[in-house]
Amino acid sequence: MIQRLPFQYPGTADDVLRLRDLVREALAAIDFPTNREMHVLNLACGRADESGALAAALAPGRIAYYLGIDLRPDAIAEARKRWQLPGGIVDFRCGDAAAIGQMKELPPFDFIFIRHQNYWHDPAAWDRLLGNALAALSPGGLLACTSYFDREHQLLTAALQTRHAEILWNIRHLRSRPLADAPGKSVDRHLAIFRNPISR
Ligand SMILES: C[S@@+](CC[C@H](N)C(=O)[O-])C[C@H]1O[C@@H](n2cnc3c(N)ncnc32)[C@H](O)[C@@H]1O
Repeated sequence: MIQRLPFQYPGTADDVLRLRDLVREALAAIDFPTNREMHVLNLACGRADESGALAAALAPGRIAYYLGIDLRPDAIAEARKRWQLPGGIVDFRCGDAAAIGQMKELPPFDFIFIRHQNYWHDPAAWDRLLGNALAALSPGGLLACTSYFDREHQLLTAALQTRHAEILWNIRHLRSRPLADAPGKSVDRHLAIFRNPISR
């Protein structure tokens, strides 16, 4: 993944490096096979600042198709300008990530990522979104989610377990950067990784 534009905010470059290490360590610990081509989906991706970090965490695997979806046109426009995928397809779409079940042309995804999920904001929409994410996984595919705060992480985890997702990894990131203006929140504070037992 090639970054063509610097990040907008100071601190982002260090945050995504920490995220890269966090995801890489988790994938190694759960023995996720990365020596292959992969389809990667980034849901509610915003500016998708983490795209390069995700590609690095999945190495030596090569991303053949990378799709990011978010409701915010400004963020999607910025993501499109920033990221390029030589030898693969990068696709940023403005739209409802809860509707991926209706996007019939999409391939199954080996790795689905949701950074700083937003379950708290709209539980009904996020329940739909999570159900569709599990259904979009390829056999053996993983759904990885990070959260800003503890309660929201618990809600997401409970929602996925209600859908019988198998939890493979769930850690509090000890080096996550606290947000000065939001007590109790920090960048990639939790990481949890799930598998859909039905698509195993
Ligand atoms: C906390 S932000 C995280 C953005 C980005 N993943 C990050 O970590 O920088 C939550 C994002 O979810 C997006 N979002 C919320 N509901 C969505 C939906 N139904 N479909 C697509 N995007 C959604 C918002 O537009 C926002 O960009």
